[in-house]
Order: sequence, then structure tokens, then C-alpha cells
Amino acid sequence: MSKHARDSFSSKFGVIAAAAGSAIGLGNIWKFPYVTGLYGGAAFIIVYLGFITLIGLPIMLSEFVIGRKSRRNAYGSFKKLAPTSAWKYVGVFGIGAAFLILSFYGVVAGWSIRYIFFSFSDAYQGSSAEISLFFSSLVKNPTEPVFYQLVFMCLTGLVVVLGVHKGIENVSKVLMPILLVLILVLDVRALTLDGAMEGVHFLFNPDFSKLSFDGVLVALGHAFFSLSLGMGTLITYGSYVNKKNNLVKTAIQVTLADTIIAILAGIAIIPAVFAFGLEPSEGPGLIFITLPNVFQNMPGGAVFCMMFFILLTIAALTSAISILEVIVAYFTEELKLKRKVATVLATVLTSLLGVICSLSLGIYSGYTFFTLNVFDLLDFISANILLPLGGMLIALFVGWHLGKYKVFREIAQGGTLKGQFLVAFMFLVRYLAPISILIVFLKGIGLLDLIIG
Ligand code: PFF
Repeated sequence: MSKHARDSFSSKFGVIAAAAGSAIGLGNIWKFPYVTGLYGGAAFIIVYLGFITLIGLPIMLSEFVIGRKSRRNAYGSFKKLAPTSAWKYVGVFGIGAAFLILSFYGVVAGWSIRYIFFSFSDAYQGSSAEISLFFSSLVKNPTEPVFYQLVFMCLTGLVVVLGVHKGIENVSKVLMPILLVLILVLDVRALTLDGAMEGVHFLFNPDFSKLSFDGVLVALGHAFFSLSLGMGTLITYGSYVNKKNNLVKTAIQVTLADTIIAILAGIAIIPAVFAFGLEPSEGPGLIFITLPNVFQNMPGGAVFCMMFFILLTIAALTSAISILEVIVAYFTEELKLKRKVATVLATVLTSLLGVICSLSLGIYSGYTFFTLNVFDLLDFISANILLPLGGMLIALFVGWHLGKYKVFREIAQGGTLKGQFLVAFMFLVRYLAPISILIVFLKGIGLLDLIIG
């Protein structure tokens, strides 16, 4: 590569694998099944799908357009496309969000690695109360989760340091098909259990009386988190996409892949939970407490348990590399650091914040901000404030600053978006997306409750 050539994705499949790898993560396998369980099943899923289509997909396309048009990192892209304005601060926002998300993401991914080994240990044979105790003592332990979190962060750094093509693209191309196979095996296992159909019914037969206003808002927030939107991750990846790629097609394929894997994760988990007479509304502990309980009661459970946590770790890794890349791209392009130095620095900084996050569930749990410990605070700020706000600004930037003709010209390289669709897209990014996001944002920070009582 010459000194000035920018690293990039080398094939269409590579782009899809990397972008879908970013989207498919803890959000799909850890969060989606438990929020579906908490907010009423099929009715929640229908609302979520509506948001994915009407808001998520247009914003994903917007991020790709900004990235490929500018060929810069999340901050540099706004600086290049709108040099004299304040838009570049949207990028700063995104890089800040990347730090916060990666720090708690690494902690949960660390637990997942720990659970791979747990599958074959004595603890796995315990009663439901013992499994619950295992989880709570793991998260509170001052050293063990920190160790696994650091292992995970080193793996993430190792992939990123290799670069966009050699590292991110190649690793995603290998891991994403493995992830698909693992999830399909787990689906077959769950669906062939006696009593699984009750769970299928819960997932696919909507009962709108179970859907609350909160559920609708959680669905929108989750659409952002799940599709990796609102902090410039897909701007950064878009900047590595070849001009011959069809951006509309890519955005549709990535959105579909993310949604299908979330549903498949729901099918792997919820019917199994029902089959063993457990409740799907456990919350964040669903996969760390309820699920091991399910596995230990089924034939071949230890193997399926291990497969599940390998699946979760793979999903988390391909997402974490995309978050780290947001920071590394910024460090290399704006601060002119070498990729190696930038990766080490970004990994060390996010890991340190991650250690504090992990300890905030144990020995530092006394330190709270607005009643939240650091872990919950970072989760709250990023998912409920930074991502929705970033997504809203990105939609406004594409809708109002770039405008129809520039957007069309970028999309038309390698693809097209004909008449009606372009008009619909502009409507969504100018009005529908920003207004809906504003509602979630106000809800997220509690202002909506004050306004509407
Ligand atoms: N989409 C990832 C998930 O579902 O787990 C999380 C994520 C990745 C959020 C990248 C935001 C981001 F920029």
C-alpha cells in the first residue's frame, strides 16, 4: 500500500460480513430476547420491526453515504463535508460514545468467555439458586471478570491492529458464517424440545394488550443499538466501501441479517425457557442465569451451553472491533498516529474505563451517580442519550445539509434509488426519523414523563 492509499474492504461479501458483524452482537443475543421477554413478545417484535424499517434502515443508508462520500473517520467526515460548520461535533460525540459503549461491552463479553468454561464445570450442575449465585459472585468479584474483560479487549485490539482488510474483513468473513451455523444448531435443539411451541407462540402471536408505551420506546432505542447506529460506526465502515458497491442493497442486506439473527436468537432461547417452565421476563440475567438452567436440564446441555457462549463471544467480538475501529480511525487520521500506536492507545484507554465499569458492580458499587453505578450509567448514557441523539443529527445532516441531489449522486455510484424511493427516503431522514428519535430521547432522559405527565 502506498503511503497515501487508504485501507479498504476488498469484496462485497467482506463489506456485508464486517457491517453485519458490527450490527450482530450482544444486542441481538443478550438484549433482544430479554427485552422481548420483558415487553410482551410478538407485539414488541412487530413494533421493533417497524422502527427497523422506517428509521433504522434510512439512518444506516445515511451513515454509509456520509462515510463513502467523505472517505474519512466519524469526525473527519463531517469536517470534510461541512468544513465551516459545527457539524463536526457530531463526530466528536460518536467517538465519545465509542469509548463509553466499548468499556461496558467488554465487561459483558468477558462474562461470556467465562461462561464458555463454566459449561463444563461443577458450578454448571448446580440448582437454579446456585447458578444465580455463581453469576452474581462472578460480576462482583474484583479480579476474575476484569481478567476475562482484558482477554476480550486484547483479542479485539489484535484484530483491529491488523487493519481493515487483513484484520476486520478477514476475521468477519470467517466468524460470521460460524455464528450462523451455531445459532441454527441451537434453534433446532430448542424447537425439538417438548413444550417448545408455547415459546414459539409467545414470539409470533401478538397480544397488543401486553404492549406498553415503555415497550414502544425501548423498541426504538434497541433498533439503534442493534443496528450499530448513531455514533459513526457505519460512517467509518462506509468510508472503506468501494465506489462500485451498491449502498442501498448493502444497507438492506445488513438490516435483514441483523433482524434475522435477533429473531433466530429469540427462537433459540425463548422456546427453551418455556419448555422448562421458566419465565422469559427475567431481564438482563436471562442468558446468564435462566439459560444455563435450561441447558443443564436438557440432553447434551453442556455442549449446547458451550456453543451458546462461543456464539455470544463471537458476536460480541465482531461488534467490539467495529467500535474500536471508530476510535482508531480517528486517532490515525486526525491525530496522525500510526495504526499500531493508535490501536494500543485506544485499547488501553477503553480497557481502563472497562475495569472501572466491572469494579462498579462489586467493590466500587458504593459510588453512584443519579443512583446508578458506573456500569449502568454508561449503558444508560450511551443507549438512551448518545446513540439516539447522534442518530437524529446524522439524519438531519443527510436530510437537510447534504440534501437530495448529493445523496442521490453518492448512491448512484454502484446502485440507484429511484424516484418514489428517494422521495420516501428524504421524508424519513428529514422528518420521521428525527421526530421519533426526539421522542425517545426525551423519554430516555425522563423529560417526556414530565411533559406529558
Ligand atoms: N450493534 C451491536 C450489538 O447489537 O450488540 C452493538 C453496537 C456496536 C452498538 C457498534 C453501537 C455500535 F456503534
